[in-house]
Amino acid sequence: MSVEKTLCDGILHVTILNPPVNALSREERAGILEAMAAAEAPGVQAVIIQGANDTFIAGADIREFGKEPEPPHLPEVIDAIERCSRPVIAAIGGQALGGGLEIALGCHYRIAAPGARLGLPEVTLGIVPGAGGTQRLPRLIDPIAAAAMVSSGKPVTAAKALASGLVDRIAQEGDLIAEAVQFALEVAQADLAPRRLSGRNVAEPAAQAEAFEHLAVSTRRQARGAQAPIAALELVKLAVTTPFAEGAARERETFLRLRAGNEAKALRHIFFAERAAAKPPADIGEASARAVSCIGVVGAGTMGTGIAMSFADGGFPVTIVETTTEALAKGMERISQGYQSSIEKGRISQSVAAERIALVHGTTDYDDLSECDLIVEAAFEAMDVKRDIFHRLDAVARRGAILATNTSYLDLDEIAAFTSRPGDVVGMHYFSPANVMRLLEIVRGRETAPDVIVTALRVAKRTAKVPVVAGVCNGFIGNRMLKAYVRETGLLLLEGATPEQVDTALTRFGMAMGPFAVADLSGIDIGYKARKAMAPGSYEPMGTIVYDRLAEAGHLGRKTGNGFYRYEDGKAAGINPEVPSIIAAARREAGVAQREIDDAEIIDRCMFALANEGGFILEEGIAAASGDIDVVYVNGYGFPRHRGGPMFHAEQYGLEAVRDRIAQFAAGPFGKWWRLSPFIGGNGAQTALAM
Ligand code: 3HC
Repeated sequence: MSVEKTLCDGILHVTILNPPVNALSREERAGILEAMAAAEAPGVQAVIIQGANDTFIAGADIREFGKEPEPPHLPEVIDAIERCSRPVIAAIGGQALGGGLEIALGCHYRIAAPGARLGLPEVTLGIVPGAGGTQRLPRLIDPIAAAAMVSSGKPVTAAKALASGLVDRIAQEGDLIAEAVQFALEVAQADLAPRRLSGRNVAEPAAQAEAFEHLAVSTRRQARGAQAPIAALELVKLAVTTPFAEGAARERETFLRLRAGNEAKALRHIFFAERAAAKPPADIGEASARAVSCIGVVGAGTMGTGIAMSFADGGFPVTIVETTTEALAKGMERISQGYQSSIEKGRISQSVAAERIALVHGTTDYDDLSECDLIVEAAFEAMDVKRDIFHRLDAVARRGAILATNTSYLDLDEIAAFTSRPGDVVGMHYFSPANVMRLLEIVRGRETAPDVIVTALRVAKRTAKVPVVAGVCNGFIGNRMLKAYVRETGLLLLEGATPEQVDTALTRFGMAMGPFAVADLSGIDIGYKARKAMAPGSYEPMGTIVYDRLAEAGHLGRKTGNGFYRYEDGKAAGINPEVPSIIAAARREAGVAQREIDDAEIIDRCMFALANEGGFILEEGIAAASGDIDVVYVNGYGFPRHRGGPMFHAEQYGLEAVRDRIAQFAAGPFGKWWRLSPFIGGNGAQTALAM
């Protein structure tokens, strides 16, 4: 049974039971509708809508979105709740999201547990609320706050919900249902009229225009080309001037249109791909996680301190080890500064920051790691450094402790072999800044034990990371693909595009930053040094010649005030004037003719370089599914989420059309790099042109 009705002392409890998150499928919608009919029976004084499984309702069942909607539809169900002649109280524990919050808005009163979260996250799925959310919310709380909630998709806490008027009460004593019953009896006994939001007008309509405009500007900027956030904002704005029925009809129409579109398809793909990626690989069987209660980090540089903060954020005590007291002091200072800046940005309170800082203990003595259950090495990226550290860890770590490396390129199997316990060694590749970026590549070596992988996945979940399991190869999933992407960006310069043109085309496509702005930010010397260690022939030297010339001239990016761009007061102030002549000289050296390059070519070359390399990664079993690759790119490399990731994007474009396009690129001066991967339809051996 998916909706349960129980009449107890005049209160009809309507309980939604659809584990794990009580998503609303057809069955629940029908069950609620039937319960609302039963609520009109004599003897019912009030109704409480509640969820089983310690949560309320996480929204419509997303798995139904790819199918034809089946009646009863949610708006009809919510209208029935609102029309009910008995007072209806929503008792919100856990999550009230999307259609779940819309149900609560259809109720006449709302009480929440202190830990509840309430939100309309539909835009994160490429849609707008489809059951009155954009029209009822601004009739209950300040319309601008409503617009911000709907266009960002971000949920609010129970305390914020109370402050804004979204809920009437917070259950103080810890028993939500008992307090909801108390609330229901009070309302019924006072004979209060049901509060029906659809019958209200929106507060202070005239004063809002400027605030809406302001919000629209920031929404558009953050949307990076996605349509749903803007559409959601427009619908809330409409509620100000339009009767409920008209606004609700427009909302439903927008919801159905967006739901059928590519953006929603891409975002649903990523939603499910992220959850699939977080599960243990299929061949791992029933291994259970090892207990992890304290964690060690080796290295207090940028990565080490970011990783330590991410563990502290997840509530783990962390011991961070450095070689010298000076380096350790710098690292500890970086951690306190990091938390200080979070306080200043209003992300956490002073007391929370203090609790987290207290979880981090610094030391220069490796012996202090002896009790740790997991130790993550985040030291300099060189094999002899790793050898030394892993020898030492092998000597001090307790048996059964997991030894992880944050290497982003090096051979994990070689690192594991420095220890007497290669089964306990795993890669945990974080992205900078590690306490902010959500991606975590979990690298599985030849001998990594199944329970080590399961444990790393568990730790990732506890620290709010998005994990993807990858196999061993140079650069794993993300950085290996990046190499192909960077190659094409560099070749585009030789063939005639400018850095600004490439960066602009790719940010218009939705990338968080253009590749040359990224190179300036991370430091042009990083890739330069990495290439020195690469085997000749394993990469196209002309693809990075402009980068190399800049590095050799000391133009290392933001840190030197000039890279591809020139920086003034930390802000880009146009192209570095040296760059055009460096490009021209490189072009002569490469013997390439300059030509006009349009934005479509820039986007397709860069995107299909990613997808094609992703195809090899899949073929070699480095990634288990193309969705895993998409999750990596969306969460770690600034790929626009609403385009679903590079593999999904190529599929949407049409793999045959991608092949044709690659054949055009293969006819160019560096065509030999376009060997077609099986994902795109090649056999991996020939270039698209030769096929
Ligand atoms: N529909 C279908 N399945 C859902 C779901 C939903 N709305 N929400 C979660 N699930 C599934 C997940 O796919 C996962 O399934 P799996 O175990 O088979 O992989 C399972 O529930 C547990 O989910 P999580 O792993 O994400 O569990 P967490 O505890 O980490 O998070 C959550 C719980 C915060 C509820 C998170 O799942 C979430 O954010 N869900 C989506 C909420 C959402 O976007 N709701 C709006 C839907 S659209 C809508 O309501 C339209 C309406 O306006 C008409």
